[in-house]
Amino acid sequence: MDLLVALLVFCVAASFLGIGNGKSAFNVVNFGAKGDGKTDNSQAFGAAWNALCGATQAGSILQIPAGEFLLQPIAFEGPCKSSNLGIQVFGNIVAPNSIEEWKNCQTGYWISFTNVDGLVIDGEGTIDGKGSAWWGNVKKGCQRPKALHFNNCNNLRLSGLNHLNSPMSHIAINDCHVVSIFNLHITAPGTSPNTDGIDISASTQVNIHDSYIATGDDCVAINSGSSQINITSVVCGPGHGISVGSLGKDGAEETAEEVHVQHCTFQKTQNGARIKTWPGGSGFARAITFEHITLIDAGNPIIIDQNYRKDGRYHTNQASAVEISQVTYSDIQGTSADMQAITLDCSVVIGCKNILMDQINITSSLPGKTTYAYCQNAEGRSSSTTPNVPCLKN
Ligand SMILES: *[C@@H]1O[C@H](CO)[C@@H](O)[C@H](O)[C@H]1NC(C)=O
Ligand SMILES: *[C@@H]1O[C@H](CO)[C@@H](O)[C@H](O)[C@H]1NC(C)=O
Repeated sequence: MDLLVALLVFCVAASFLGIGNGKSAFNVVNFGAKGDGKTDNSQAFGAAWNALCGATQAGSILQIPAGEFLLQPIAFEGPCKSSNLGIQVFGNIVAPNSIEEWKNCQTGYWISFTNVDGLVIDGEGTIDGKGSAWWGNVKKGCQRPKALHFNNCNNLRLSGLNHLNSPMSHIAINDCHVVSIFNLHITAPGTSPNTDGIDISASTQVNIHDSYIATGDDCVAINSGSSQINITSVVCGPGHGISVGSLGKDGAEETAEEVHVQHCTFQKTQNGARIKTWPGGSGFARAITFEHITLIDAGNPIIIDQNYRKDGRYHTNQASAVEISQVTYSDIQGTSADMQAITLDCSVVIGCKNILMDQINITSSLPGKTTYAYCQNAEGRSSSTTPNVPCLKN
């Protein structure tokens, strides 16, 4: 009889935990989380994470069901026992409503993952950073938090979620290799400051595709140490475009290479396909391709700025620059909000080399206006390109 009871208890527990199929499922509610939008669930999520991270079965998952789960800043840390773990987000994860209510915000991250390999995050839920409380405000002892941060997470997959109103960057990827990001909706107002969609740094083999990004800063920013980055079928706007850089700030040596942006749309963005590097830096930005791009009333549709100075300071070390070479623009069509549709503002120190343009036709979205190109210290070739780019050979 005791055996029967034990067996029954085991079966109930097993189906509850989803052990029947050889995987464990850890629902945050079973760890005390409350989806009432008020309770701080950081401890419950931490406990559920410890269970997931300690699970040996490949494919074990942490589930966040429907509801509104308030989280204070939380760090999910590995390494974990399995390198095949999932997080399913069906509900909404929400940040504190006001900056007064934020705790432990000195790290600059709201939700961070460190040293976790083979993590798959999906679901149809929302990660709501409640960023408007931070935009234009500061909190003593705090750094404005990035909503979702991944550090040293290899074989990462992130898909399906809605990312809303981050205080800073919505998603930041640092030191991660083999990353797949798709079917995301990232939304923040065009006026929200520093709310990059996806920031990539020190990472390789990153594939971002089929996503919609509307925000107040770069839709995607590709920063130093990035290579083999593919961005395909992303609709960007409002936002500051898809940017390589900025690289080389304060004399830094920084690099980015093998960046492939294709089948993307820029609609009412401040910039489109952008490369920006600071005077006085070193390193390189090379092997970069933008192709099959649609422009709808986009500002600065094509821009290389090798003289980038966002801070307005005079940089005394003008003797070096980040090298820009092997940049290809192909099949870029549509309308520009700026009459100067193409800008190649390259440094007098080294200039931009091997810039190729083909099948480009950018017309003005202003009635009766024509577009033109600005070109300094750039060399390369153009064919079938409107407007004509004077410093490139035909
Ligand atoms: C990027 O796309 C190209 C083809 O467009 C493909 O050959 C390459 O493997 C992709 N890179 C990554 C990191 O997925
Ligand atoms: C460029 O696009 C405009 C508007 O669609 C079109 O009228 C024009 O013929 C195109 N020019 C070339 C050279 O294809």
